[in-house]
Amino acid sequence: MYRLLRPLLFAFDVERAHGLALSALRLPLPRAAAPDPMLAQTLFGLDFASPVGLAAGFDKDGVVARRVGVLGFGFAELGTLTPLPQTGNPRPRLFRLVEDEAVINRMGFNNGGQAAAIERLALRGVSGGLVLGINIGANKDAADRIADYETGVRAMSPFADYLTINISSPNTPGLRALQDRGALNELLARVMAARPAGGPPILLKVAPDLEPIDIDDIAELSLAHGIDALIVSNTTISRPPLRSPQAKEAGGLSGAPLHDLALERLRDFRQRLGTRLPLIGAGGIANAAQAYARIRAGASLVQLYSALVYKGPYLPARINTGLASLLRRDGFTRISDAVGVDVD
Ligand SMILES: Cc1cc2nc3c(=O)[nH]c(=O)nc-3n(C[C@H](O)[C@H](O)[C@H](O)COP(=O)(O)O)c2cc1C
Repeated sequence: MYRLLRPLLFAFDVERAHGLALSALRLPLPRAAAPDPMLAQTLFGLDFASPVGLAAGFDKDGVVARRVGVLGFGFAELGTLTPLPQTGNPRPRLFRLVEDEAVINRMGFNNGGQAAAIERLALRGVSGGLVLGINIGANKDAADRIADYETGVRAMSPFADYLTINISSPNTPGLRALQDRGALNELLARVMAARPAGGPPILLKVAPDLEPIDIDDIAELSLAHGIDALIVSNTTISRPPLRSPQAKEAGGLSGAPLHDLALERLRDFRQRLGTRLPLIGAGGIANAAQAYARIRAGASLVQLYSALVYKGPYLPARINTGLASLLRRDGFTRISDAVGVDVD
């Protein structure tokens, strides 16, 4: 079905097509088969029916995030939400690299702000088994970026099953400097102190463009400050060989060309952290075999975004089915037994 729809959707400007996809997800859609029970896990106090999640950026304002369980997702991350609304960078800022099955974006945290999202989330009630994460960031012109994260933690905690601290977007100048040791130490201390008593787990989302020393620092500080899990990774500013005419556009690259780099980073973090901190793998995952490889490399959960553009909205349901077969083929009775087996 999506094979027929895809050329039509690709005829639209990318942001327009994205808007159409969001509108379509508001319609009553057929519910994918329930994930095989062997895919279920409890991580940082939350029950995940499927390890496949919707990555941040698809539904920045939380318009449809609660509904994506019908597509087979076990969790969805809305955001990035900043304290104040902001329009983001001038258009065009989103590019489809069809020949590379990739996307380049320099959106720049366009979003309606946290207060508007709270109204929407408060109105909608519970999400029916889907784990709902909220990804928070800093406004572009914030005088104190870390204060924006504290604001986000305080404001969004009551509405989130988990929160993600996003310090890895390449499209807000200087943001990724928060991954440096000194800044990260201060950020994590202040963010953890801002979490209300009984507040949600806090995850940290990192870039794939990290040196070994950065990886050591992030791993050590995440443990020291009691971060609940790491998401590895955001888009890359690097440019592996690409064929599409838009390859030279500035911004973060995602999709197939990010696959190997994101997998390598995940392995790096697993090697340093072992089982001390759950990892979520993201970057270029487009089928069950790739999701399975990421799990065997140390990811307890995976997230995807770009592959939805190329493979269609029911990709997560197909990955669920494929993952269960691959686990059975290899003699596993539950997914948690496969996590990290290729690295440990
Ligand atoms: C158009 C677009 C917008 C994105 N916006 C965000 C964002 O607001 N916050 C964030 O943490 N990640 C954002 N991401 C990164 C994704 O969440 C994900 O980490 C990355 O795209 C790698 O996964 P993929 O290769 O499956 O797309 C965005 C990605 C794309 C393609």
